[in-house]
Amino acid sequence: MSLFTSSTQNIPESSNVPRHLAVIMDGNGRWAKKRFLPRIMGHKRGVETVRDLIKQCINQGIEYLTLFAFSSENWRRPPEEVKFLMGLFLEAIQKEVNNLHQNNIRLVLIGDRSRFDARLLKAMHDAETLTRHNKILTLTIAANYGGRWDIVQATNRMLHAQPELAQGFTEQELAPYLSMHYAPEPDLFIRTGGEQRISNFLLWQLAYTELYFTDTLWPDFDAEALKLSLESYRLRERRFGRTSEQLGSNGHA
Ligand code: IPE
Ligand code: IPE
Ligand code: MG
Repeated sequence: MSLFTSSTQNIPESSNVPRHLAVIMDGNGRWAKKRFLPRIMGHKRGVETVRDLIKQCINQGIEYLTLFAFSSENWRRPPEEVKFLMGLFLEAIQKEVNNLHQNNIRLVLIGDRSRFDARLLKAMHDAETLTRHNKILTLTIAANYGGRWDIVQATNRMLHAQPELAQGFTEQELAPYLSMHYAPEPDLFIRTGGEQRISNFLLWQLAYTELYFTDTLWPDFDAEALKLSLESYRLRERRFGRTSEQLGSNGHA
């Protein structure tokens, strides 16, 4: 199956372990508040959780991990918090890039880069270039990302490259221009922190993804918490429009 095919057009192969896991890492602020700490301490701890999750994903054989780090709506936060998050993002890329590279991890950053400063842009570019041929895991970080932004930027780029498509285009024609064209669609979506919403994350790509919500706050999302989510995934019956009877015995036909 081509990576560009949509789950609404073709039935993807599925197995007991998700090939692609997408996560909304929510609850950092509340984690800190519970400990009478400033919100930013929650974000700091959240980075450590990311580091552990990457290791767990490799252990589990997950090939693509996509993390929502900063949404296009997060600019609405207090300026000090936005500034801290940008600084933390830069620091995390600079500190972790060699480690990612040594572990054969490819880093890809998706989102609208127009509001980032030159230093951050350079760090993003350098990290992506260094790790681009790595094979064991593709780690995608969504920063200043919004699902609606993605669909609009894809449409604009497609029409610029292929003006004749203004007469009408198909899902398959649009798909290569979407930010995550290099990855299969997520099999499992996890949102920590108790909220049950998508918050403008991967709108197009989550069309047939299994959704898992947990009250666990992001800094507390450990190996055990991941295991529970993977167990839940294993029990799902991914029908993609078919009936139960048409599936194999484990529901992952
Ligand atoms: C998620 O945690 C991190 C970002 C959105 C950057 P929050 O900061 O949203 O934490 P809560 O939801 O306030 O607890
Ligand atoms: C969503 O978290 C975005 C990220 C985790 C980066 P928020 O905590 O900002 O989401 P809402 O706005 O409460 O839905
Ligand atoms: Mg939140």
